[in-house]
Amino acid sequence: MQIHTPPQTCNFPRVTIVGAGRVGSTLAQRLAEKNLANVVLLDILKGMPQGLALDLLEARGLETHDREITGTNEYADTANSQIVVITAGFPRKPGMNRDDLLRSNAKIVVEAAQKAVEYSPEAIFIVVTNPLDVMTYLAWQATGLPTQRIMGMAGVLDSARFETFIALELGIAPKDVNAMVLGSHGDLMVPLKRYSTVKGIPIGELLDDVTIERLVTRTRNGGAEIVELMQTGGAFFAPASATSVMVESILLNQSRMLPIAAYLQGQYGLNDVFIGVPCYLGCAGIREIVELNLTPEELQALHVSAENVRQNIHRAKEILQQ
Ligand code: LAC
Repeated sequence: MQIHTPPQTCNFPRVTIVGAGRVGSTLAQRLAEKNLANVVLLDILKGMPQGLALDLLEARGLETHDREITGTNEYADTANSQIVVITAGFPRKPGMNRDDLLRSNAKIVVEAAQKAVEYSPEAIFIVVTNPLDVMTYLAWQATGLPTQRIMGMAGVLDSARFETFIALELGIAPKDVNAMVLGSHGDLMVPLKRYSTVKGIPIGELLDDVTIERLVTRTRNGGAEIVELMQTGGAFFAPASATSVMVESILLNQSRMLPIAAYLQGQYGLNDVFIGVPCYLGCAGIREIVELNLTPEELQALHVSAENVRQNIHRAKEILQQ
């Protein structure tokens, strides 16, 4: 009786993560441990992605998942990925805001996007590098991808932070809280009190305005609060979780409604800008951008946020020409 059969080649979704820093490597771990995709971790640092991939592979039996994890410095190894996540670039230092990263990260993201799309022209791209609304725009221009296949991760993270602070304030389970944060991933993000609920109950019925305003401010400073505490680098567990939720919604075609940085063409009265809005996310990428009925104040806050992104896109283009 023959018991040894040659290994079969089976196609399993492949996700490439560009940038093997803390966000990238934690995302690789999350995706593999959820059995979602084979992961290619790419970085320009020689040996770093290979070492991380080997470390994750050695945990595979203990975590009992079956996914392959490859570390590489070569874009050729990323070929035919279903999803490319760009995390490459510098994180913030204490006192910096995300826009200060424009200069250091613009060229890195453009180059990563161009090289990755060459090998995975059908992929859906998720940009995580800050300032991410601007970086997503640059990556879109550099790749020429259809706009439903390129987006930025931010709203999912910002909403998770708002949900966390609401849950902590009320002393309840965060999974029962559903918050909605729109706008850019920056100091001008737009947490929406009216669309944030506990099991459908608007938070305005559970918390007073002063408290909500305090939680909104903490959400806006959510990233900076962690940078201040850690001093070296910033948040990576929650950013990796937020990105993995987006990857999962795409790979499993869940069509979840998630706030993500999407390219607007008239929605919310905005044009030619990537900014956080609710979208249905499925196997083809952004299936639909959802237009909420915003109050004039909420809409105004979204426009202010978009204007800031627009100015930084302009600055980034100048930097790229230097
Ligand atoms: C943060 C970084 C990822 O908000 O922007 O923590």
